[in-house]
Parts: sequence; structure tokens; C-alpha cells
Amino acid sequence: KEEQMKDNIALIGFMGSGKSTIGRVLAKYLDMKFIDIDKMISAREKKTIPEIFEEKGEAYFRKLEREIVYEESLDNNIVIATGGGVIIDNENIKTLRETSFIVYLDCTIECIYERVKHSKGRPLLNVDDMFEKIKELHSKREILYRISADFSVKIDIESNMYDTAEKIKEAYIYNS
Ligand code: S3P
Repeated sequence: KEEQMKDNIALIGFMGSGKSTIGRVLAKYLDMKFIDIDKMISAREKKTIPEIFEEKGEAYFRKLEREIVYEESLDNNIVIATGGGVIIDNENIKTLRETSFIVYLDCTIECIYERVKHSKGRPLLNVDDMFEKIKELHSKREILYRISADFSVKIDIESNMYDTAEKIKEAYIYNS
């Protein structure tokens, strides 16, 4: 059945947009299982994300990401927190579109920066001018987030994760 195939929820959005935090809350609200793609990549390699980037390179990371997105999407009734770069790969978008209601966490640049500025776990932002880098990457990726999503939710510094999860829950129920 069509609706059975799309009963997962995939959260997409830039680094720091809150995919994991909101995903966990949302999974509770809907009594679904929560999975975090970055966590699974780390667990499979027994390395942190920065270690994987450093030792094996970004292409290797992207390959693992693609495999795990595919494998996990086969499961049902799960909320999937993706990594911010998941939309770079067309295969990922295709896989997620077939299996999941895709939600874009549309977080302002200021909000993203506030949340990631002290983070050491994001190799792509490990540069001198982090704010510039965020703006650059964000402007390249924004269109991909938008066209991939079934539903978008705006997030800023004031947003509360419970309200955001509630909005997504309603959109998901209305859609199914
Ligand atoms: C990345 C985002 C990260 C992680 C990796 C690459 C990206 O995930 O997958 O560092 O390309 O935007 P988060 O969005 O959870 O930080």
C-alpha cells in the first residue's frame, strides 16, 4: 500500500538545525522508533565523524552515509535524523522520497551559528571563519533542502522544540 511505504519521517536540514533533538521528541509523540544516521555511521566505523573525515576522507563518509540511509529506510515507522549533507546525493533523496515524509528544518543562519559555534564535531565547519562557511554552504544547499521536502518548518532562536515537533506531527498525520 502506498501509505505504508511512506510511513517514515526523515528530518533534513543544515548542521545545527535540530534534527536529532526534534527527531527524538517527535518519535516519542508518535510512538515511533528514532534513528540517527550519523550515530550509525560512527558506530559502524567505531570512529567519530571527525576521525572518519580525517582518516578516510569525505567521499568515504558519503559512501557510508548512502549505504546506511538506504538500509535504514527499508524499516517502517521510524523517525530518521539525517546528516546535513544527505541531500547532496541524489540517491539519498530518491530513497528518502520513496520511504519517508521528508521534513525540512528551516533554521535561520543566526540560529545555526549560535548552536554550532562551540562544536568540535563538525569537520566541514572546522575553519577560521565559521560564520562565512555556514553562509556559503547554506546558500549552496538551501534549494536542495527545499525541493526535497514534503513539509518545511521555520526555526529561529526563539523556537521551542516541543512546538516544532508538534507542528511536524500534525503535518504528518494530516498527510497520511
Ligand atoms: C554534515 C553534517 C553532519 C555530519 C557531517 C557532514 C554536512 O551532520 O553528517 O559532519 O555535510 O552538513 P549534522 O547535520 O548532524 O551536524
